[in-house]
Amino acid sequence: MTGTIRWTQDDTGVVTLTLDDPRQSANTMNRDFQTSLAAVADRLVAEQEDIRGVVITSAKKTFFAGGDLRELIAIRPEDAESAFTAVEALKRDLRRIETLGKPVVAAINGSALGGGYEIALACHHRVALDAEGSKIGLPEVTLGLLPGGGGVTRTVRLLGVTDALLKVLVQGTQYPPRAALEAGLVHEVAGTPDELLVKARAFIDAHPVSRQPWDTEGYRMPGGTPSHPALAASLPAFPATVRKQTAGAPYPAPRAVLAAAVEGASLDFETASTVESRYFIELATGQTAKNMIQGFFFDLQAVNAGRSRPSGHAPRTVRKVAVLGAGMMGAGIAYACAKAGIEVVLKDVSDENARKGKEYSAGLLAKALAKGRTTEARRDELLARITPTADLADLAGCDAVIEAVFEDPELKQRVFQEVQHVVAPDALLCSNTSTLPITLLAEGVERPDGFVGLHFFSPVDKMPLVEIIKGERTGDEALARAFDLVRQIRKTPIVVNDSRGFFTSRVIGRFITEGVAMVGEGIPAASVEQAAAQAGYPAKVLSLMDELTLTLPRKIREETRRATEAAGGTWTPHPADAVIDRMVEEFGRTGRSGGAGFYDYVDGERAGLWPGLAEHFGKRLAPGEIPFEDLKERMLFVEALDTVRCLEEGVLTSVADANVGSLLGIGFPGWTGGALQYINGYTGGPAGFLARAEELRAAYGERFEPSPLLREKAAKGEPFLD
Ligand code: NAI
Repeated sequence: MTGTIRWTQDDTGVVTLTLDDPRQSANTMNRDFQTSLAAVADRLVAEQEDIRGVVITSAKKTFFAGGDLRELIAIRPEDAESAFTAVEALKRDLRRIETLGKPVVAAINGSALGGGYEIALACHHRVALDAEGSKIGLPEVTLGLLPGGGGVTRTVRLLGVTDALLKVLVQGTQYPPRAALEAGLVHEVAGTPDELLVKARAFIDAHPVSRQPWDTEGYRMPGGTPSHPALAASLPAFPATVRKQTAGAPYPAPRAVLAAAVEGASLDFETASTVESRYFIELATGQTAKNMIQGFFFDLQAVNAGRSRPSGHAPRTVRKVAVLGAGMMGAGIAYACAKAGIEVVLKDVSDENARKGKEYSAGLLAKALAKGRTTEARRDELLARITPTADLADLAGCDAVIEAVFEDPELKQRVFQEVQHVVAPDALLCSNTSTLPITLLAEGVERPDGFVGLHFFSPVDKMPLVEIIKGERTGDEALARAFDLVRQIRKTPIVVNDSRGFFTSRVIGRFITEGVAMVGEGIPAASVEQAAAQAGYPAKVLSLMDELTLTLPRKIREETRRATEAAGGTWTPHPADAVIDRMVEEFGRTGRSGGAGFYDYVDGERAGLWPGLAEHFGKRLAPGEIPFEDLKERMLFVEALDTVRCLEEGVLTSVADANVGSLLGIGFPGWTGGALQYINGYTGGPAGFLARAEELRAAYGERFEPSPLLREKAAKGEPFLD
């Protein structure tokens, strides 16, 4: 054993290197691995006379998990040179093994992502076990990084610049083993672990000497080098593809990948590899990678591992669920549950409605089948699990209920009263309400401690987040069961306390009203939309308002005003209110469903921003009167500031829930790592963020007022972390 790599050698001279970090459940490129690899490379070189070939495999469930993100997130800009030296040393060791002249085979027994696939790339032959859930690829870009362990340099030489960029690097695509074979990422697929090793040995037996294609005389890069006319002609299209992907938002990784690939393709292997290391270190020391690693990796892991799940309750599995209401949401929820193997009774007021709800699943499956993502057998199995009905008696034996009828408190209460005696006596009762208090809906059910909010997002099959809402009387057992149910259907749960708009609807509301307020200030609507896109939001702000309808904020505002005044508070109107009122009352423009809103619609399709906006709301603004940077930051700041308030008020109970909920639920830009990580990563940290909030407050109003918790964090110089 050499640290994290086990060396075994048989009497035919085949060395098996088993990656097996004794201190972790998965192998990563931590310091121990780097030391072990160096020692292994030394030994291979020293003993090469006695070695016939090398098999690299792993003793863990995954082949190799990739870079050590804990080490990566800790690299400071001032550590850049030492980090560069370490990366270069690791790559030299891989290169020594690669150029030994002996056949080296990767027996990929599980997922090989990022650094894991980079090790496999340094092998002459790659065989992957076709294991359920295994993924192969270089997803670094999704964490704001690039594959700096030789991944760019080798995929470019393996597949050519175009395929390497489009199939592997720019999107960070993760392939199941068979798809990886088709994409040219592995040479062979094995059906069993034994077959995996047999195939690996067969390669060694057939190749007394082995080199990489790029180290072989006469090697030509597939598709040619960038000076080749055909490739040269297609290169200018790449920056445009990247711009389209990032919409001008500050994502440095796709651009760095592009540069490393294209520059590297014209250079010799060693120089290209060094160029790749330079770009990698630039990204790794930058703020965006740290943000994305924090939000998309550490926080997401914490959330999924159950940070907010009450402890002391044994895990439960739902076998049969009643979905009430087969409309847009109910149909989607039924599909998600059936996909996870749960029996679903889909109930609506008529058989016809219920059947239509089931047809939605059939439609999704037909598309999946056409794209090769499912089989006829799996489709039929899934559909057989959904029973559409209008008969209450069919709900007998259900151990969970998810209600998605119209957004009407009396109807919802009545529906629960009807079903509570039909389903299993201890069934978990969940409502998918988007705005109504859970505590109110639980009134009238016999076991309010078993009642919980389960807020899905539309479209349910695509949206990964579910917001679990704890009402005043929700018990911990119900909360734990709701958590388990969300994990069972393979979604990500955040847990919030009952309050108006919960977390997600409340905070996305700030974003939308900020955009609408800008229109009221006379800012061209196109600039408002552009600012949202450049800030990194996936949806444009005014189009989102149109989707939700302009009548919704009016209704919510009225309810909030009444509630505030009833509680003795003072109601302050928002600058967006006047714009929305004029749009609805003066111009009859209520949003997409009404056929006209901030946009015009032709046959239900968005046609363009309504020209009347300029006429009725536009003002002559002096150039630079409202800086474009302010437009972007106003959207990000209103959301981040209110997220801090949600934490302060106890609506949110953890930073991880805040970051993950904002990233996966409401489209807070990915480069920030989430609404609270945005504050941590802002220039100057929380103190810098606070100073900027004060500026925005002076210029645009009290909604930018920093709350006490933010002031405290800024004063202590303490980031938001759990
Ligand atoms: P929808 O109008 O598409 O569907 C509601 C369905 O409930 C209809 O098919 C209706 O026939 C059925 N229904 C009415 N009374 C019923 C009863 N007594 N028993 C069984 N079914 C009955 O509405 P949608 O959009 O699916 O929304 C449903 C719920 O989900 C609402 O509470 C809504 O606020 C919430 N929600 C909606 C989201 C969205 O994006 N549309 C997002 C998250 C939550």
